[in-house]
Order: sequence, then C-alpha cells, then structure tokens
Amino acid sequence: MDNLFDINVNLIVIVASISTVAVTIASYAALRLILEKPPARFHVQVPPEAKPDWKATTTISNPSIRDPNDPTVIICYDPATGKYLSTVKAHTAVDVTEAISRARIAQKSWEKTSFAERKRVLNSLLNYIIEYQEEICWVTCRDSGKTMVDAMLGEILSTCERIRWTIKNGEKALATEFFDPGPLLPYKIAKIEYQPLGVVAALVSWNYPFHNLFGQIISALFAGNGILVKASEQVAWSVDYFSRIMKTCLNACGHDPEIVQFLCGYADCGEAIVRSGVDGITFVGSPQVGKQVMKTASDSLTPCILELGGKDAAILREDANLDQAIPIIMRGTFQNTGQNCVGIERVLVHEKLYDEFVRRVKEKITGDKLRVGCSLEEGEGKVDVGALTMSGQASRLENLINDSVSQGAKLVIGGKSYTHPIYPSGQYFTPTLLVDVTPSMPISQHEVFAPIMTVMKFQTDEEAIEMCNGCPYGLGNSVFTRDQAKGNQMAKRLKSGMVNVNDFAVAYICNLPFGGVGISGFGRFGGREGLRAMCLAKSVTLDRFPLIVKTTIPTVVDYPMHARGTTFVENLVRVIYKNDILERIKGGLALAREFMGR
Ligand SMILES: *[C@@H]1O[C@H](CO)[C@@H](O)[C@H](O)[C@H]1NC(C)=O
Repeated sequence: MDNLFDINVNLIVIVASISTVAVTIASYAALRLILEKPPARFHVQVPPEAKPDWKATTTISNPSIRDPNDPTVIICYDPATGKYLSTVKAHTAVDVTEAISRARIAQKSWEKTSFAERKRVLNSLLNYIIEYQEEICWVTCRDSGKTMVDAMLGEILSTCERIRWTIKNGEKALATEFFDPGPLLPYKIAKIEYQPLGVVAALVSWNYPFHNLFGQIISALFAGNGILVKASEQVAWSVDYFSRIMKTCLNACGHDPEIVQFLCGYADCGEAIVRSGVDGITFVGSPQVGKQVMKTASDSLTPCILELGGKDAAILREDANLDQAIPIIMRGTFQNTGQNCVGIERVLVHEKLYDEFVRRVKEKITGDKLRVGCSLEEGEGKVDVGALTMSGQASRLENLINDSVSQGAKLVIGGKSYTHPIYPSGQYFTPTLLVDVTPSMPISQHEVFAPIMTVMKFQTDEEAIEMCNGCPYGLGNSVFTRDQAKGNQMAKRLKSGMVNVNDFAVAYICNLPFGGVGISGFGRFGGREGLRAMCLAKSVTLDRFPLIVKTTIPTVVDYPMHARGTTFVENLVRVIYKNDILERIKGGLALAREFMGR
C-alpha cells in the first residue's frame, strides 16, 4: 500500500510539474505576443509616372537636370526615355538648418526607444518593401534608367538583407563590451558603451536611389541616431515617394517621423549639411567631392566616412574556371549599366586564357546580344543593359576609349553612345569590349562607371598583383582560381578594402564592412563595423567592489612629493613588467620596504 501511495504521489508531482512548465511557457508566449507588437501595416501612394504604361506629356531631347533660367530647381526626367517627370525645388542652406533642428528634437525621444521598438520599425519597413518591391523598382527605374532586374538585385535584395542582418545581429553588435582591466587595476570594471552619435548625415550617390538612402537610414536609426539623408540631384524625383515610405512607416509605428530628414539639392545643399553641426558624416561619391567634404568638415572636426568609388580588378589566374568566371565578370561589369562603386572595371587575364576569354566574352556582347533599352516599358526579358543616369557622359567615355586606342588598345565592340530607335532621347552607351589595355592608359586609372569591359594581359601572379595595385583606387577586387589557398594568398596582397575569391561584390551581401583604401576613401559602413561607426564608443570604468577596494594615491606619490616617489614607481614597474621572476620578487620586496619605511 505504501508503495502504491508513493507512486501516486510521484505521478501527481510529475503531472503538476509538467502543467506548471506548460502554463509558464504558454503565458510567456502570450506575454511576448502582447508586449511585442506585430509590424505595422501602412500604405503609400505610388507615383503614377512610375507605372510601365504611363504616358508622358513631354519628352525632352538632350535632357539636363539644370534649368538655365532657374538655378533653384531640379528638372526630373527618365534617362531611358527622356520623358519629363517633374520639376522639384532644390533644397538650400535654409532647408538644411530647419531639417537639423527638427531632427535634433525628434532624436531626443528616439534615442530612448528600446531595440525592440527599433526592430519593429525595421520589420514594418521590410514587410512594405517585400509587398511593394515591384513598385519600388518601377520608381528607381524611372528615375535612374536602370533595368528591373538590376533594381531587384541592387535596390531590393540588398536592402532586405541589410534589414534582416540588423534585426538579427544589431543589438549584439551594439551591446556593452567588457574588457580585462589589466594587472595595474584588477579591481576595475572596464567597458565600452556604444551610444548614438546624435544626428548624423549621409550624402549618397545616385546609382542606387533606394538602397543608398535606406542602407544609411537603417544603420543610423538602429543605433539611436537621427539622420539627414541627401539624395543626389540626379535622382531627385524618387525622393518624394521614398521619404513618404519612411515617414509613414515611422508614423504607423508611433514614432516622430522627423527623425529622418530627406534633402536633395546641388553642391550648396551638400556643403550646408557638412557645415550644419551634424555629429558624423557619411559621403558616397567621387574622390574630388570627397576631398571637398573632408576639407569643409575639418572646420568643425566632424568625423567622416568616405566611400569614393573604385577601379576594381578581376584577376583570372592561369587555373581559373572560365565557365564559372565569365558570367560573374559579365554581371560585375554590366550590372546597373556599369554604374557600381564595386563594379569590375578591369579584367586581368593570364596570357594562357587570354584569347579564349576575349573570344567568349565577345560572343556574349556581339551584335545585339546585350540589348540596350528601357526595361520598365519594354517588359520582362527584353532589355539587358539600361541607360546612363547622368547626361553628357558619352564624350568623356569616348575620349577615354579613343585615347586608349591611340595608345595600342583594341576596340572589339561598342565604344560609342547609342541612339535607341524607340527612345532617341534616352542616354545610352553601347556595351563595350576594349582589349589589350595596359596599366599606363588613362582608362586603367580613371573610374568609367559605364558598360565598358577593359581587358588586360599578364604572365605571372606577381605581375597581376602589381597591375592590380598600380592604381590609386582600392575598393574591392576579385581573384578567380581553382586553388583556394593561392586565391587567399593573393587576396592578402591586393591593395583594397575587400577581396572576393571566385566571386564579385559578395562581401557586401555577407554583411562584411564596406569601404576602401587609397583614393577609394576610408571608414566603413555595413555590418558590425558600420553599425558601430554610427556610435560614440565610450570607454567607461567603475569599481568592481566599490565598498571594499577603491583607488587611493599612495603617500609617496601624493602631493607634496615624497623623496622616494621615483623609486617607488621604478619598483612598481619592475614588479609588474619584468620577465625575470627573481627581479620581480626583488622589486616586490623593495616596494614593501617603501610602504613600511615611510
Ligand atoms: C572617338 O573615335 C571615333 C572613331 O574614330 C569618332 O567617331 C569619335 O568622334 C571619337 N570621339 C571623340 C569624343 O573624340
């Protein structure tokens, strides 16, 4: 009987424990559901001009963003068709002053938000981007002339990945870090606290009108900052839609939308932002303007992150797999009409693969294999390469190509601007293959930012490394090889902020920090380093046992100076740093004498 009773009691205890655990888990889950609000849903009006079947009333021939009669406005048009979109007011110093004061006020409450609240904003934004990815791409295509696939990859995929990474890893990246305080001060707590900088500014390039703005906004907001983002005047039209997305999202999540300020204007607007008193500046653009930004920022010693473009090389070693490499090099060169900071601008091919590489690439570009046009209007699968976003590029590119040809390069295909039969006002350049290029030609030194593949020949790895590094830029490079270890060895020797072995630009999609060396600039955005760059890394110390051990200045080094102050410090140095154990003991004894003999 006793036994049976025991078993019963045991059973009751087990059942009771299991139910308690179950109830606890269920209530915890319920509590989380109540506390963790689901992402906010919101709607934003998509501009009708973005729709593929939109009929324009005006098409501009020889379009330009400048109005010769009115320097205060920006003329917006579609670079792929010349269709007139709108005229917007260029922001000036007055707008910048207003923007920063609004952002400063909003940031006071934003910096107090929890990571959970910031993640909710990002989740809400992510849901909107996924649901309206096509519409967002329409807008970027209309404003920049790019193709839909280029937009899907460069605007949507990259932004979704940045948001996903930030939600998953951002909090850990910004968590307080504790350090060993060292042998002198073992009773201390030593730590770094990542605090928001305050209100930061990002002046970004026009090549990815959506991603370049939102990539900066995501990091700045997550770290607790307010942000002024300046879109390039080349893509002023899409700013209205993009700012409504961000502001509606913040509103729907219950936050002050003034925390993000969208600006768009000419050089005076950029200069006003740099001078506005912001707490940090990220600039993405050319080395010339980057120098100007740094000069201006030096007046107030405002920290800068400068991302100033690249002249990335793809090195094809003797053992490279051409089947794998060629499609990657094609995308690396022609993605976004060649308008990429980390686009492949130089292809360095081993002499043994050279002729076959040139023949196979020529086959892929010849005739109208790479179809140029307006992908937004012509539809899926009709266009491979879009328009150039900036007007007036043809003569710059033709000059670079003609100079190279006069110095011995061979123009295989293209090399000139292209007049589209349906879109004669579109800003097109024929996809170009230029071979037998040498390092001394100007085209090897200047960023082309266009659909131009330049091919150079080398004989040894050493020569390839020298050619690759013999260029003032140093952003990203690629090495193609079947020998992974060799690839890794070469990666170490290439002068650039990023290297991808058997790939192109993927370091960015892997959320590694993005940035360069040389005239490609410095500082990093993206990943952990990018998030931390949006913060003041504040070093703080505390006492580990505040009631027991506190720092006291020994009498021998307290004011007024004791006769044996120097000897005391000398012995302290010996005790702590001398490798020889006997010397340390001797120092220790001397130190003890100092204490006792005082
Ligand atoms: C470049 O050379 C081509 C062919 O000789 C010529 O038609 C074109 O006008 C030149 N372009 C420039 C900008 O000089």
